[in-house]
Amino acid sequence: MSNIIRGKTIVESRERRSWAEPYKIKMVERLKTTTREQRLRAIAEAGYNTFLLRSKDVYIDLLTDSGTSAMSDHQWAGIMMGDEAYSGSENFYHLEAAVQKFYGFPYMVPTHQGRGAEHLLSRIMIRQGQTVPGNMYFTTTRLHQELAGATFVDVIIDEAHDPASLHPFKGNVDLAKLQALIDREGADNIPYVCVAATVNMAGGQPISMQNMRDVHALCARHGIKIFLDATRAVENAYFIQQREEGYKNRSVASILHEFCVYSDGATMSGKKDLLVNIGGFLAMRDPNIYQQASSLVVVFEGMHTYGGLAGRDMEAMARGIEEAVDDDHIRARVGQVEYLGEKLIGWGIPIVLPVGGHAVYLDAKRFLPHLTQDQFPAQTLAAELYIQGGIRSMERGIVSAGRDPVTGAQRYPKLELVRLTIPRRVYTQAHLDVTAESVADCFDRRASITGLTMTYEPQYLRFFQARFEPIA
Ligand code: F0G
Repeated sequence: MSNIIRGKTIVESRERRSWAEPYKIKMVERLKTTTREQRLRAIAEAGYNTFLLRSKDVYIDLLTDSGTSAMSDHQWAGIMMGDEAYSGSENFYHLEAAVQKFYGFPYMVPTHQGRGAEHLLSRIMIRQGQTVPGNMYFTTTRLHQELAGATFVDVIIDEAHDPASLHPFKGNVDLAKLQALIDREGADNIPYVCVAATVNMAGGQPISMQNMRDVHALCARHGIKIFLDATRAVENAYFIQQREEGYKNRSVASILHEFCVYSDGATMSGKKDLLVNIGGFLAMRDPNIYQQASSLVVVFEGMHTYGGLAGRDMEAMARGIEEAVDDDHIRARVGQVEYLGEKLIGWGIPIVLPVGGHAVYLDAKRFLPHLTQDQFPAQTLAAELYIQGGIRSMERGIVSAGRDPVTGAQRYPKLELVRLTIPRRVYTQAHLDVTAESVADCFDRRASITGLTMTYEPQYLRFFQARFEPIA
């Protein structure tokens, strides 16, 4: 169990027992520091949106853990073993076997990344006017559900919306909310329940095995399918090992396998857990759904044996699946995130608790309490952090939440967060120290920070490309 859940932090104490990275470095990528003047110019050119910065202007890049991990020598060797046949590539069969072995799903189609799988699943499963419940929305997942004609309904427990709650499984589905929704909409109008593990928008929070079992039992009673967003399910399995009764002597691999048993399939962005720069898949148990997926994947991604990926990409992902579930790897990965989080907690900086699996989330509402949500506190803080130390983070608040597709009204999410996302196997503890110090410097001058106004708003997933200006 983490120190935070026990209610204390021991980063600086003699009690601390370190994890060390279970790898050593063979090749490095050089980083460049910039001056404050250069950064002020760069962020203004980027419309105060960290997504629009050029990566050459960034010192420590914590925008995302997606596609930004370092591959191992074993994965790079796999890149050289790419079988670039148009169909029936050997690498596809390696990938399929790894998905079957570690996730337990008999069928899968590769996709270019997670949203490719979400697109296929939404088109196959959803009919116009249906409702898809989920444990908090994710941007691309919800958009694909909406484009297919569904309305997303959040059925996560209330604690997930409270950044200070210490609930160990804030990703849990609220069974009463789910039951009430089924009663109201009717099981026939719910094509599937979408269960994310971990929950990105709640702060990388896990869902417990018991909750997954309960969701499965409830859905089975009503004949409703469950599809996992398994993007960070390995990190979720690690939290189950650390926090849930009965799992501490089980391997992460065996926990992951059990977790998947309670679902009918999964969408996957391999760019996270699976340690690759590109790739994903849609997996399932039902041969009829597989048949539809394999005919639809050809339209949007590519043949069912490559789905938009080169053979070498599939090989790297197949090897990544095996490395991802290694207990030493996942302990160090989550341990690094926790290290940064505990350091910030120790300095009294408001973050989402407990620390999540892939990122530390600054609570911008408490960091900048003098800004209204319409002044984009998280967007502002992300820009300030870049100006302060060349550190790139991501807004996860009102800009990401976007507008209601029917009414066009602005959504006001309870959580207004800045995500410091840790790529896997990329940065050292010293990088995290520098990051923490930059955050603390911003915190010290927080009263002088003013907000932003939006000057350009794209139609879809506006956070990627929106532009802003400082409030005069
Ligand atoms: N589901 C979750 C939980 C995700 O975090 C992401 C991507 C996706 C699906 C979509 O996968 O990017 O491969 O198409 N999250 C990235 C992030 C973008 O930064 O959190 P994708």
